Amino acid sequence: MKLNILLGVSSAATQIEGGGFSHTWSDWFLKGWIKDSSSPANANDHLNRWKEDIDLMSEMGIKIYRLSIEWARIEPEKGKYNEEAVLWYRRLLEYMKSRGIAPLLTLHHFTNPLWFENTGGFAEPANIQIFLGFVEYAVRQFSDFVDEYVTINEPNVFAVMGYLNGVFPPGLRSIGKALRVQSVMAVCHIKAYDLIHKIRRELGFKNTKVGFAHHARVFVPKSNINLWHKLCSALVSHIFQGAIIRACLFGDFVFPLKRYGKVQRGEYADFHGLNYYSRSTISSPADGIREDAFHNDLGWEIYPEGIGICAGELCKMLKRPVYITENGTCDNNDSFRCRYIYDHLKVLEDSGLPVERYYHWCFTDNFEWCEGESARFGIVHIDFKTQKRTVKKSGRFYSAMIKNKEITDEMLEEFVKAQEYRK
Ligand code: BGC
Repeated sequence: MKLNILLGVSSAATQIEGGGFSHTWSDWFLKGWIKDSSSPANANDHLNRWKEDIDLMSEMGIKIYRLSIEWARIEPEKGKYNEEAVLWYRRLLEYMKSRGIAPLLTLHHFTNPLWFENTGGFAEPANIQIFLGFVEYAVRQFSDFVDEYVTINEPNVFAVMGYLNGVFPPGLRSIGKALRVQSVMAVCHIKAYDLIHKIRRELGFKNTKVGFAHHARVFVPKSNINLWHKLCSALVSHIFQGAIIRACLFGDFVFPLKRYGKVQRGEYADFHGLNYYSRSTISSPADGIREDAFHNDLGWEIYPEGIGICAGELCKMLKRPVYITENGTCDNNDSFRCRYIYDHLKVLEDSGLPVERYYHWCFTDNFEWCEGESARFGIVHIDFKTQKRTVKKSGRFYSAMIKNKEITDEMLEEFVKAQEYRK
């Protein structure tokens, strides 16, 4: 199979950097919410090993990398910026450039500085301006290295996990708050979209691209003839992803979301950032998993067709190139990841959709939020005690795909054919 899609990798600051910063996830760790008691202060020690990591990417042939910056590190107190942290990121970006690796920079990936959280975080519409202050600062600091931005990663997951399911900080269980957070984040995205374009125009930079990373799933009723299942499936899909995508792409706030402040209708994405992992099978107003399907090590259904369905739906809404900003799986022994990657890429390559890039989640195993270090998504293995990096079989497969720009029969034989999913 020829590969027309550019292959890269994805990560997030809190999940790899380490260091003890004062943010919502170090606080969540202190409160005992990480299942294996691991701390984000450890993670991959990327803070000290960034060069080794970029070298490894480069040796593997990787040319595009989606990374994020840690707000709490850059702005440890409201309005007070840490120049050393900025310098660290600038060195990293400069080094990436020297190794021919282009950044797609995420400005917010799940983690808030504690000072921001303590003022109400994204549940507080008055805080939109605070977020935009950080966006402005970051874009001015990094624009000479970064043309392409993801404003916010997965507002729906952030809101639902933190404000409805209560398993991410701040650990609330309120549908009203979860909806408010989605609405506020959509406004943040729209305003950040305009702001980034404005600043970069003023600074004389061209080729600016801005989008957000949308977590989308396929939602299906458990039974096709059960009206309740069908109703719930449509409802959950709308509340989880249908409404937020309209708000973020067009400034179109439909029920149950609410427009906070002045937001013009428009088109607010230069690309579709799609994070795709799984399908949900619905029989009540909650998430659900099909039992007789293949599952990964976290119990998520493996459903490769879904990535094409979700990408297709986005393209129908707005004609833009698609970047798969995340796709990957928890496979602790790396026993089916090659097949998973192949199956998803095949769907995309066969789809006829304008999918330009695929950023695999993730480069190295990392701090997987409340799962801690126990859930491995990387194509590079991390020994969290010694911090030794070892390229996995899936990493060798990924590297061979990038270098050959195709998947040959020999590669299928070596990496994919013997691998099977588990139920
Ligand atoms: C998030 C990542 C996370 C991945 C796997 C996505 O929802 O953006 O940060 O590690 O899923 O759970």
